[in-house]
Amino acid sequence: NKGSVSWSSPSNIALVKYWGKKQTQIPENPSISFTLDNCKTITVLDFVKKETQDDVFSFEVFLDEIPKPEFHPKIETFFNRIEAYLPFLKQFHFTIKTKNTFPHSSGIASSASGMSALALCLVSIEKQLNPNLSETEFIQKASFLARLGSGSACRSLEGDLVVWGTHPEIEGSNDLFGVKYPYKVHDNFKNYQDTILLVDKGEKQVSSTVGHNLMYGHPFASQRFGQAVDNISKIKLILESGDLEAFIALVESEALTLHAMMMTSMPYFILMKPNTLQIINRIWSFREETKLPISFTLDAGANVHVLYPEQYTDDILKFIQDELVAYCQNGHYICDKIGFGAKQL
Ligand code: DP6
Repeated sequence: NKGSVSWSSPSNIALVKYWGKKQTQIPENPSISFTLDNCKTITVLDFVKKETQDDVFSFEVFLDEIPKPEFHPKIETFFNRIEAYLPFLKQFHFTIKTKNTFPHSSGIASSASGMSALALCLVSIEKQLNPNLSETEFIQKASFLARLGSGSACRSLEGDLVVWGTHPEIEGSNDLFGVKYPYKVHDNFKNYQDTILLVDKGEKQVSSTVGHNLMYGHPFASQRFGQAVDNISKIKLILESGDLEAFIALVESEALTLHAMMMTSMPYFILMKPNTLQIINRIWSFREETKLPISFTLDAGANVHVLYPEQYTDDILKFIQDELVAYCQNGHYICDKIGFGAKQL
């Protein structure tokens, strides 16, 4: 009647972006991401059967041992969305104790790691009640539920590459849960590095929900969704051939297109900061000079993810320290790399 489960789940960074969704967390286009390794959420979920059964969700949330009532509405919405799939939800009182391995105020999205960790904990409880759940069913269900918490969260459970959203050339791809990229990937992409430059650690200027809604009635929406489908076809060839030049062009174009969508919506937003542009220009001139395969991507904010193959780590980290750290808030950056997904603790 009571127990505790615990999972650690990483963040992820999209190469082809999810931007625009239909009702109940169905993406307008397929996306693909690298799972990260160091940027993780660790969640402990304690559960105890309620003494009297009632019709409400009962839970408390702690971040770093501090009660977080401000997280309640988001979790309440999540529980409402997933209740139909987890009938036991109202029978228990839950204590959600969570912490992140990255600084809370880093502007790094914690919804992907946080929602995937919570979804995994909940499916672990279901597994205790229904031991018949197979490994595959377990991971698919957890990704399905994570998606209902935050779309990109469904791409955080496995690694090293995950696809979410139906694409005719990716076997098994679908709109309801993320799938591990099913094809062999060239060695160039093994252990790919992601150094995250924290340009702006503040609260997001535009929440992702508001952001996705900007794609309703957006003048370029259908072209954008079509482009993402084409880019998944292209990245499939790139991941097979190891063509780093083509990878760089595709990934940087995806990042800038995401921001172009925000600049051309109504209302419109500029989420890059002057230092974001400084960093991008420095990366381009360094690449021109050295011919090293360094590239960047962005999420819906000002921070820059610097991507490069592991073998160039020394040169590129030196460049980052000498030339890019000056543009980071308090000189702050996080070294991360491709990871392999969530772990039960
Ligand atoms: C720009 O997954 O945060 O990072 O489904 O509303 O929770 P919700 O949105 P969210 O959106 C992520 C958008 C993105 C691109 C991406 O990760 O693909």
